[in-house]
Amino acid sequence: MADVLNHLSNNLPRRKFDAVIIGAGGSGMRCSLQLAEAGYNVAVLSKVFPTRSHTVAAQGGIGASLGNMSEDNWYWHMFDTVKGSDYLGDQDAIEFMCREAPKVVYELEHFGMPFDRNADGTIYQRPFGGHTANFGEKPVQRACAAADRTGHALLHTLYQRNVRARTQFFVEWMALDIIRDADGDCVGVVALEMETGDVMILEAKVTVFATGGAGRIFAASTNAFINTGDGLGMAARAGIPLEDMEFWQFHPTGVAGAGVLITEGVRGEGGILLNKNGERFMERYAPTLKDLAPRDFVSRSMDQEIKEGRGAGPNGDYVLLKLDHLGAETIMKRLPSIREIAIKFANVDPIKDPIPVVPTIHYQMGGIPTNYHGQVVVPKNGASTVVGGLYAIGECACVSVHGANRLGTNSLLDLVVFGRAAGNHIVSSKLKDGNQKPLPTNSGDTTLARLARLDGSSSGENVQDVANDIRREMQSHCGVFRTSELLTDGVKKILAIESRVGNVHIKDKSRVFNTARVEALELDNLIEVAKATIVSAEARKESRGAHAHRDFPERDDVNWMKHTLWYSEGNRLDYKSVTTQPLTVETFKPKARTF
Ligand code: FUM
Repeated sequence: MADVLNHLSNNLPRRKFDAVIIGAGGSGMRCSLQLAEAGYNVAVLSKVFPTRSHTVAAQGGIGASLGNMSEDNWYWHMFDTVKGSDYLGDQDAIEFMCREAPKVVYELEHFGMPFDRNADGTIYQRPFGGHTANFGEKPVQRACAAADRTGHALLHTLYQRNVRARTQFFVEWMALDIIRDADGDCVGVVALEMETGDVMILEAKVTVFATGGAGRIFAASTNAFINTGDGLGMAARAGIPLEDMEFWQFHPTGVAGAGVLITEGVRGEGGILLNKNGERFMERYAPTLKDLAPRDFVSRSMDQEIKEGRGAGPNGDYVLLKLDHLGAETIMKRLPSIREIAIKFANVDPIKDPIPVVPTIHYQMGGIPTNYHGQVVVPKNGASTVVGGLYAIGECACVSVHGANRLGTNSLLDLVVFGRAAGNHIVSSKLKDGNQKPLPTNSGDTTLARLARLDGSSSGENVQDVANDIRREMQSHCGVFRTSELLTDGVKKILAIESRVGNVHIKDKSRVFNTARVEALELDNLIEVAKATIVSAEARKESRGAHAHRDFPERDDVNWMKHTLWYSEGNRLDYKSVTTQPLTVETFKPKARTF
């Protein structure tokens, strides 16, 4: 068998690049731009056309302390981010991101990104949850917005610049596995051309994961169908641990029953949340920031209102987002897509009626561990070691700037800051001038075995049945509030599903498109992310940020101020310390989080 596989893998077609970037969202294209402009031969692989990457769905804005609306500075932004993260974020990376923010936003402006404007021509900024002036004193307008289509504007801007810089796009290509050599360095990636089913090895001096999130491990998610955690699955299979996977953000305002995102920018513009009695309940939970408290806070408050019988609707299972008082003109100018979404998915016109909303899975704070240059960093012999030739950026990475809870607008910021930083680091490391390390002789073997298993199966389970079972169990065992009983049961259920993943079968191969094969390959990634999440969550005996544990309702800094590392091999956990030392300023020490 091994001989056969070696023979097959040696015959795989190969192409060579200086850099291969997996994913064409905001982080991938910001990184590729930096590299292509520096003369690198760059390939970007994407399962979809680049401007359809999930960044396109980001609505409300990108955070930067421009101070266009009132006084602001990066240090306040840093404070809010550290506090928002429930003190689990690494303060070196957070300082780096908040300091870089104005620069990267002005750069986007100069690239031609069509931001909304103030009367004086400066970029319009709106308030967003958890962003404050003067260390929590009052809300500040920090979200730089292009109406409610900021991600769309950003992605199109970056795509145009990449075309100009001659980045090479491999559209509808799915990366399947990275290739590590005997030193553990990454030397390339095995990828599938989705239309033809052809497999190719892309050799590269540097490989960058920019594969986005994995929100599709849950049943109700604001995430696109492509968000199946491909980078996380590839990393896990290659022996790289996943960090802080227990922390998943519920966005407070997904359309009830549909999951589609309603931007926090609605509340930024003055929209408010009401229970069935018409009460603005956030005033009770967060007296200062109210509806603009951080997302973990607002989502828990909504969940509590619903559980205590104050939910609206025939089943009392949602709350209402009221914005009619903003007036038709503001809604049409600042929130045009939100109106469209509400009409299409909730059958209400928000100019007249409130939108039914529920907390909905939106973002993973955890991911592939990196430093703030984007290099993948793993523990080895008691120290942190860089994996040669491998970077991770954007939502698939855990750098960690979001800790246990991300602030809205810091995701687009994370994409461009760390996409750019990784590009700069690769260029300054002169990776292009080094030699391409040889491929191991068995490159591609494990991938070909995965494909052979799928194509050779004559019976077995339907892929979507197994994927839907993962989603259902994750939704019911790993929600806004968790308990030991739920989590322990959840681990058992997900491990039982894992044993079914190897037994899926693509029915009637003669009639299906390669999408069936792609979905089966994605399932291998979904299960890795689901295991990492539920096992890490089961182990964390405290409540912190998005991990709200009813049996351990307090944050426990003595025992749990640490990052989780989950390894696929042996389904084992390890931990590493939080970097509390920023780059140039003093540490923000943990305090109780009130808003
Ligand atoms: O609410 C939103 O517009 C989402 C923004 C974000 O996740 O940063």
